[in-house]
Amino acid sequence: EQDPLVIFTPSGKRGRFPTGTPVLQAARSLGVDLDSVCGGRGICSKCQITPSYGEFSKHGVVVQDDALSDWNAVEQRYEDKRGLKPGRRLGCQAQVMRDVVVDVPPESQVHKQVIRKRADVRPMVMDAATRLYLVEVEEPDMHEPTGDFERLARALETQWGVTGVTADLSLMARLQPVLRKGKWQVSVAVFHDHTGAPPRVIEVWPGLHEGGLFGLAIDLGSTTIAAHLTDLADGTVKAASGLMNPQIRFGEDLMSRVSYVMMNPGGDREMTRVVREALSDLARTLAEEAGIAPELIVEAVVVCNPVMHHLFLGIDPVELGQAPFALATSSSLSLPASELEISTINPRARAYILPCIAGHVGADAAAVALSEAPERSEDLVLIIDVGTNAEILLGDTSRVLACSSPTGPAFEGAQISSGQRAAPGAIEKVEIDPLTKEPRFRVIGSDLWSDEDGFSAETAASGITGICGSGIIEAVAEMRMAGILDGSGLIGSAEQVGTPRCRAEGRTHSYVLFDGSAEGGPLVTVTQGDIRAIQLAKSALYAGARLLMDERGVNKVDRIVLAGAFGAHISSKHAMVLGMIPDAPLEKVSSAGNAAGTGARIALCNIAARAAIEANVRKITKIETAIAPAFQEHFVAANALPHATDPFPELCR
Ligand code: FES
Repeated sequence: EQDPLVIFTPSGKRGRFPTGTPVLQAARSLGVDLDSVCGGRGICSKCQITPSYGEFSKHGVVVQDDALSDWNAVEQRYEDKRGLKPGRRLGCQAQVMRDVVVDVPPESQVHKQVIRKRADVRPMVMDAATRLYLVEVEEPDMHEPTGDFERLARALETQWGVTGVTADLSLMARLQPVLRKGKWQVSVAVFHDHTGAPPRVIEVWPGLHEGGLFGLAIDLGSTTIAAHLTDLADGTVKAASGLMNPQIRFGEDLMSRVSYVMMNPGGDREMTRVVREALSDLARTLAEEAGIAPELIVEAVVVCNPVMHHLFLGIDPVELGQAPFALATSSSLSLPASELEISTINPRARAYILPCIAGHVGADAAAVALSEAPERSEDLVLIIDVGTNAEILLGDTSRVLACSSPTGPAFEGAQISSGQRAAPGAIEKVEIDPLTKEPRFRVIGSDLWSDEDGFSAETAASGITGICGSGIIEAVAEMRMAGILDGSGLIGSAEQVGTPRCRAEGRTHSYVLFDGSAEGGPLVTVTQGDIRAIQLAKSALYAGARLLMDERGVNKVDRIVLAGAFGAHISSKHAMVLGMIPDAPLEKVSSAGNAAGTGARIALCNIAARAAIEANVRKITKIETAIAPAFQEHFVAANALPHATDPFPELCR
């Protein structure tokens, strides 16, 4: 008689095993992705499976509901203590008795594709670098002189096949009491480096550690620092937060920070210190918010532009301020987080910095490439990560090009007279009636438009505080469409435009969006200076995109992806009216949210993604905007709204 047949779903892997084989063992020998932390001791419950009886019988597999063994004492103990979901079994305990179909639910897969819980947070394919193992360590013996760490290493090797682990001195100091407290059974967090470096023990806990392992995905921008505290078991975001980059006080944009270093010896060290402190503060806040002990944060992945990269790593960025814009290192870095003085996470946590693409195109652009994968796109895609420094990628399966463009902070509400960060109270959406020239708007934190019933009552609590980046873009585009602005970006007078909302300000004019001054509230206007700031920023963006299109020899792209926390909020119609982006059918313009942040999360959750982006970055063609004469030409022509010479046929449709 043949051995029973076991079919695993969803993988479809199958094989015959002697009666009595534990399901976990069958899964292992077939290479089925079934998790286990305790190594089959019946205590971690990571190995849960669902036998699905009878379903495949019509295909010739006779499946009976006694196909798995009855519950044994270990499984029963688990059920009594913790309980299993109906229909679930522990894969390490249940044994194969007859032909059976076994389903491995997503939460029991190591390489799980996690179900999307929030529309704006992309599910991750998991393969975390740091993994947890429960081991039984041999007790010391007078006749065997090995150390506790060596016996721990041996246990990892014999029980899990993890060979050659190393650890910091600080781990050795912690190990002895933990081993004894756990009665020689300990959970070990081991970091597996994709570079082939020996695995490192990051932390040990007595007994079974059930508090989870977490990582930080950090998008270190010139203006804002954003971080996601992520569960390394399933990629879910436990807390997300951001703060202003404290380096702003040394210079608003990157080049002014480089100049600060040139003029103030030691200025780089000051900037390194403040950004590292800010990161530590952010990590502490996130851990508190999520109710997680700092020691459980065992990894951090950082993406940033080249100047931030150098300043964060403690490298003088002066070389990046002048041609040929040499990076101290363009490779990815895998190093102890303590070297970067991130002090509020596990002291042995690891940090990974994505590779830089070039002297002006940083690890943030690499992260965008990881998130949006232009190299896998069949059609030609233009990806613009809008920020103080915009990262631009253009490509498809044949070739990918990248550049960055100094847009400045106008899109983030800086350098705008009534500008502010996107926060409650900021005007974020604007419409202007082309006939009456009267505006209506919406404020962050309110669902109502300003002309809807109940608006003033609802906003009274928070009040209107200013206008954010997406609001100013909509305002300027609406002003252009309503004829308040001409093609050169000049605001007309009240007489020219026919609206009392245009007020003279010296020799120029401004447009009043909201005047609450009679009630002691703010006056929110769009001034001629604001328009100029937006024109400079959008011209830089457009010129960068055109430069890549020139290089690729195209006049049109198939689709456009707007990325960046801010890119997610821009209306594509308004962006195109302004000429921020090249002409394209509006339905082909989409938003990717914070793609650099998503790229950081992908690299945090999936070790293979680190190797993949390192290989991909080497294939990307870098275009240097700062020294390209065509960039200047494109920049000047792009100053007009939408453009001096490029036709925008899609806009006219
Ligand atoms: Fe841990 Fe089954 S492997 S409970």
